[in-house]
Amino acid sequence: MSDLYYDPYDYEIDADPHPVWRRMRDEAPLYHNEKFDFYALSRFQDVLHASTDEETFASGFGTVLEMMTETHNESPMMIFKDPPEHTALRKLVSRAFSPRRISELEPRIRAIACRYLDAQVGSAGFDYVADFGARLPVMVIGSMLGVPEEDQDQVREWTDAQLHREEGEIDARKRLDEVQAALWGYFARYVAARRKEPRDDMMTDLIEAEIELEGGNKRRLTDEELLAFIGLLSGAGNETVARLLGWTGAVLARNPGERRKLVEDPSLIPGAVEELLRYEAPSPVQARKVTRDIDLHGTTLPKGARLLLLTGSAGRDEREYVDPDRFDVTRSVDRHLSLGFGVHFCLGASLARMEGRVALEETLRRFPEWDVQWHDTERVHTSTVRGYAKLPITLQ
Ligand code: HEM
Repeated sequence: MSDLYYDPYDYEIDADPHPVWRRMRDEAPLYHNEKFDFYALSRFQDVLHASTDEETFASGFGTVLEMMTETHNESPMMIFKDPPEHTALRKLVSRAFSPRRISELEPRIRAIACRYLDAQVGSAGFDYVADFGARLPVMVIGSMLGVPEEDQDQVREWTDAQLHREEGEIDARKRLDEVQAALWGYFARYVAARRKEPRDDMMTDLIEAEIELEGGNKRRLTDEELLAFIGLLSGAGNETVARLLGWTGAVLARNPGERRKLVEDPSLIPGAVEELLRYEAPSPVQARKVTRDIDLHGTTLPKGARLLLLTGSAGRDEREYVDPDRFDVTRSVDRHLSLGFGVHFCLGASLARMEGRVALEETLRRFPEWDVQWHDTERVHTSTVRGYAKLPITLQ
């Protein structure tokens, strides 16, 4: 049997990590990678427990393996913070991220999805990710923040430019710095305008949200925190949803029988979105710093170690799910860890689920069947998200 090896940077493993993750769960539930010096937990129960013990498994040193720091990081983004700072920020932004604000977005999300998909009706095929899945979430976040319609294309272009890598471009920093400056400049002006002229939108909610601190003082978000939150929303909400929609196109093409069930009974779609999240987690790896020595599976995980929580592996753990490698839209998925767990549980979970559901409803309404040109697909290669950058489909 070959040596067990895993790292999140290896393209070959990333193409299908499930056999390696299965071996890790069975043979090395606390895995250590010597080359990059990190540990990894792959079983559902271990990932769950580590996600709820944020004192031992901290986010405050970064949660992206190659960007982790030795000392506490200075990022104003709450995803890279621990309690109590995280608690205060999360409480503040949750005021704006209310169920009302999110459900208000559904007609807008549907209209955007319909516009992109209607443009493809009658065509021989299109790229389900580049022409649809990657575009939808950017427009959704713009609408959610209340970016005026006439500015949305410009914001989308800047966001696209941030994510785009020229072939052969090694150091994209200068180009990215310029785009970033343009985008931040736009949002800084936008926040200033909303401060002067409040409206009934999420940006105004964010500006006005207030929490009481110990001792009775009140606190609002600073400009820096507001801008960091906007940055976090596009960082956390665009690439992930694009990957979820890519997996939707790919997994349903590979499982036409399951797709037919959804066409015949669209009430199965919300459950299918959970099953997709479990089956191919769009964001399968979350990193943590270990803050004290802790014994796990007969090994001491040392203080200071970098630990990967393999949420993507947890979704295929046979200790938690029956026949986990089978994709089954009628499976009742009581819980999965693909949207995280504990204090950092995905703030955009209900929005992500809504985008997944609406995208699938509108896709199947127009295109009940499609094939994928597998040879022409392309993957995204980052250590945070996993899935397709290009998924050309042919319509039947
Ligand atoms: C399918 C799509 C999505 C997936 C798979 C996903 C996954 C995740 C995961 C795994 C975490 C936890 C990270 C950790 O524990 O370190 C997280 C956190 C977060 N997500 Fe999502 N996400 C998705 C969509 C979104 C959307 C649409 C938004 C907002 C528009 C969003 C905003 C956030 C934020 C702000 C956090 C940080 C929460 C905190 O630190 O308290 N996500 N997401």
